[in-house]
Amino acid sequence: MQEKFEGLRHKNEVLILSIESSCDETSIAVVKNGREVLSNIVASQIEIHRRFGGVVPEVASRNHITAISNIFDEALATAKVTKDDIDAIAVTFGAGLIGALLVGVNFAKALAYSLDLPLIAVSHVHGHIGANYISHSSLTPPFVCLMVSGGHSAILKVDDYYDMTLLGTTVDDAVGEAFDKVARVLGLPYPGGPEIDRLAKEGQPSIKFNVSSSLKNSLNFSFSGIKTAVVNYVHNKTQKGEEINKADIASSFQECVTSELAEKAIRACQQSGIHKLVVAGGVGANSRLKEKLTENCQKENIEFFSPVLKYCTDNAAMIGAAAFYMIKKGIGLADLSLSAKPNVDL
Ligand code: KG4
Ligand code: ZN
Repeated sequence: MQEKFEGLRHKNEVLILSIESSCDETSIAVVKNGREVLSNIVASQIEIHRRFGGVVPEVASRNHITAISNIFDEALATAKVTKDDIDAIAVTFGAGLIGALLVGVNFAKALAYSLDLPLIAVSHVHGHIGANYISHSSLTPPFVCLMVSGGHSAILKVDDYYDMTLLGTTVDDAVGEAFDKVARVLGLPYPGGPEIDRLAKEGQPSIKFNVSSSLKNSLNFSFSGIKTAVVNYVHNKTQKGEEINKADIASSFQECVTSELAEKAIRACQQSGIHKLVVAGGVGANSRLKEKLTENCQKENIEFFSPVLKYCTDNAAMIGAAAFYMIKKGIGLADLSLSAKPNVDL
């Protein structure tokens, strides 16, 4: 298999079938040369988990099992290719919900074995960065990446497609977690991020919420304090029988968090001397964050890239994009002992 894998490094046209099942989206894509998406089928379980107020891991795993075969057929049909046209199988092996990941990993292993194809093990975070390659055909490293999702908040210096350094990370909660928790306390449906984004447009950032000042000089983040501050604010007001203005709370929280993210991302560009900033991950869909990054980048003469909205949140096309550059670098080849991992180092 090593030989077949090596052969792909020099092949002009590489067709990757990629699989993503780390949380509540079952997705399979066919991606050509890491940049061209021939198909990207996403079956979202949002409606199923909404009634529980968040993702129930066991329910997610069962729904992945039910969905995955049909999605595979649909991904091939939409791409107008057959199994025989595929050069490699790529799969998210972590980070994520272990039971959910296992469905994708085992499906990928079965495909790779039966079709005698190289199996590429892709980290979910690298996939999120890959979302930018399919959104912007001219984007190449080096760049600084602001990685913001339900599981991560980090700033990375991406020197080459697979050569990156962590410049800053959260010391507690991921920013998406904070969005979801604040939404929950405001009685908004899951997933909370898009709901806060929408509601904030109707309010004013009139309430003073702050992020911890102890990390002011570093590129690390902390979102647990502001999350608790919002929860306490709501509980105090409710206990006193006072009205709360949900839109103002959403706007105030979002304003504070997005300022912190944008300010540190820009500072990371300045400190590393790289005038290219890329945002990745579900929170990258936030309209206020994008506004601030666009504005600040313009002021500082930094080129700014964000993925097309549908590639911001979890999807398999981004995994295919990342896998292509792993193949070109000769890394990531897995065998049938590949296992799912709940945590993966950035
Ligand atoms: O990248 P993603 O789909 O999954 C993970 O890898 O975690 O990110 C999901 C997170 C959730 O916390 C969701 O609330 C948040 O991204 N999100 C948003 C927006 N759209 C999704 N947060 C803020 N504003 C949005 N528009
Ligand atoms: Zn994700």
